[in-house]
Amino acid sequence: MADAAVIWITVAQTSALMPESVTAIRQDGLDLAIYRVGEAFYASDNICPHAYNGRLSRGFLEGGTIECPLHGAVFEIKTGRAIDGPYCADLKTFPVRVVGDEIQVEVDPADVIGPA
Ligand code: FES
Repeated sequence: MADAAVIWITVAQTSALMPESVTAIRQDGLDLAIYRVGEAFYASDNICPHAYNGRLSRGFLEGGTIECPLHGAVFEIKTGRAIDGPYCADLKTFPVRVVGDEIQVEVDPADVIGPA
């Protein structure tokens, strides 16, 4: 049975992301970073939890980590765990699934603006 407390939204086509890349998706009031590592896709908040002004989509993706371009906080993109750099909270991550060629992210409907 589906969980009524969450919804899946399509954020991009798989072909839109090159391997080992990160891109920003602003949609439905969300500001997300979408990652492709090999054939796997991940999603997180795009705003760094350190000072709330670093955009992770402009950061440095290496293996399974993203480094914020502002002060160098490093997060595991799979879990969001802060693993290096200045002390800060973990990064919020979102479940991702691929349906056909669509990358879909699971979100709380309360976080979505507009029809979803
Ligand atoms: S804003 Fe990202 S490390 Fe400071």
